[in-house]
Amino acid sequence: MILITGGAGFIGSNFVLDWLAQSAEPVINLDKLTYAGNLENLAALGDDPRHSFVQGDMGEPGVVDALLARHQPRAVLNFAAESHVDRSIHGPEDFIQTNIVGTFRVLEAVRAYWANLPAEQKTAFRFLHVSTDEVYGSLGAQDAAFTEEHRYEPNSPYSASKAASDHLVRAYHHTYGLPVLTTNCSNNYGPFHFPEKLIPLLIVNALAGKPLPVYGDGLQVRDWLYVKDHCSAIRAVLQGGRLGEVYNVGGWNEKTNIEIVHTVCALLDELRPRADGAPYQAQITYVTDRPGHDRRYAIDARKIERELGWKPAEDFDSGIRKTVQWYLANPAWVEHVQSGAYREWVQTQYAGNAS
Ligand code: NAD
Ligand code: TYD
Repeated sequence: MILITGGAGFIGSNFVLDWLAQSAEPVINLDKLTYAGNLENLAALGDDPRHSFVQGDMGEPGVVDALLARHQPRAVLNFAAESHVDRSIHGPEDFIQTNIVGTFRVLEAVRAYWANLPAEQKTAFRFLHVSTDEVYGSLGAQDAAFTEEHRYEPNSPYSASKAASDHLVRAYHHTYGLPVLTTNCSNNYGPFHFPEKLIPLLIVNALAGKPLPVYGDGLQVRDWLYVKDHCSAIRAVLQGGRLGEVYNVGGWNEKTNIEIVHTVCALLDELRPRADGAPYQAQITYVTDRPGHDRRYAIDARKIERELGWKPAEDFDSGIRKTVQWYLANPAWVEHVQSGAYREWVQTQYAGNAS
C-alpha cells in the first residue's frame, strides 16, 4: 500500500480517487483537515476498504512513525501543505510549521522506517514530495520557462516554505541516501478546488452575483494544468522517476489572469446565462495587487516528457470546460464549502470510521 499526506485537499483527493480507479493497491490517507481539507471530496469512495482515512497532523512527532510501523507502505507521497499565497502573506506561521517542520517530521519518520526495511523493500521504497513551480520565483515576459536547473528564488512566504521543504528532501537523499523524488508543478485547476484560488473563486462568485476580483492589471501569467494530469504525472514519477531527481510538471498553457477571467465568464454565459441576460464580465472588478505578486510562471516539462513519456491528456479548453461543468453540477459541494458545513462531514460520515 501507499501512504499519502494531505489526501483530503484539492490535489490529494483527486489523486486518491484516480489511484483507486486504476489500482487495487490500498491508500492510507493522513490529513489534518485544516480549512482546506474536505472529506466530501472523497465521498464517492463510500466505504471502500482500500481507503483508510486518518485525521492527524504530520508535524506532530510520532504520528507518521506510527502509521508507517502499522501499515508498512511501499511509498510515501507528501501532498500536505498550507497552499494559498494570500494566506501566507497574512499569516506565514502555519506555512513554516506545516510546510517546513511538517515535511521535516515526515522525512525523519520515513528515514527511520526505511533504514530498517529488509533489503528488497528498502530498494523498492520511494518518498515522493509534491512541490510547486513557485519555488523558482518570477519570470520576465521573454525569459525561458523554468527547467529543473533554474535557481530557487521564492518570493512569498508560501513559496519560501515550499522551497525549504524541497531542500530538506534533497538533503535527505544526499546525506542519508533516502530514495526521494520531487515534482514541481504549475498551477492546477479542476474539481474540488477550494474557492479561495482564482478559478473556483471566479465560478462561485460569478454564480452568486459577486465581484470577480482581478489583482493589479490582471496581466500576470500562470501556466495551468488540469489536476488529473498532475495526478498522472505523479504516478509516472513514482513508477519510473530516477532517484533523487526533480521533475517539473506543466501543460504548456500560459495564460494571463484576465484571459482566465474572460474564459470562465464566456463559459458561464453559455452554460448558465445570467437571469438578466447581461454577460458575467460585468462583474469584473480590479482590486489592489497582491504584495510581491510574481509576474509570470512557466514550466518547461520536457524532462518528464522525455524520460517518462508523460503528456497531459487535457488541453486548456477541454479542462476548463470540464471544470466549469463540474462546479455547475455540484452545487451542494459549493454550498457546503461556503457555509462551512463540509467540516461536519467528518462527524456525520466518518463517525467511528477514522483510525
Ligand atoms: P490544499 O490546500 O487544497 O490541500 C492541502 C491538504 O493538506 C488539506 O487537506 C489539509 O487539511 C492538509 N494538511 C495541511 N496541513 C497538514 C498537516 N500538518 N498534516 C496533515 N495534513 C495537512 O492544497 P493542494 O492545492 O491540494 O496542494 C497539494 C500540494 O500540491 C501542496 O504541497 C502544494 O504545495 C502542491 N501544489 C499545488 C498546486 C496548486 O495549483 N494547487 C500546484 C503545484 C503544487
Ligand atoms: P491563485 O489561484 O491564488 O494561485 P497562485 O497565487 O498560487 O498562482 O492565483 C492565481 C493568479 O490569480 C495569481 O496571479 C493571483 C491572481 N488572483 C486574482 O487576480 N484574483 C483573485 O481573487 C485570486 C484569488 C487570485
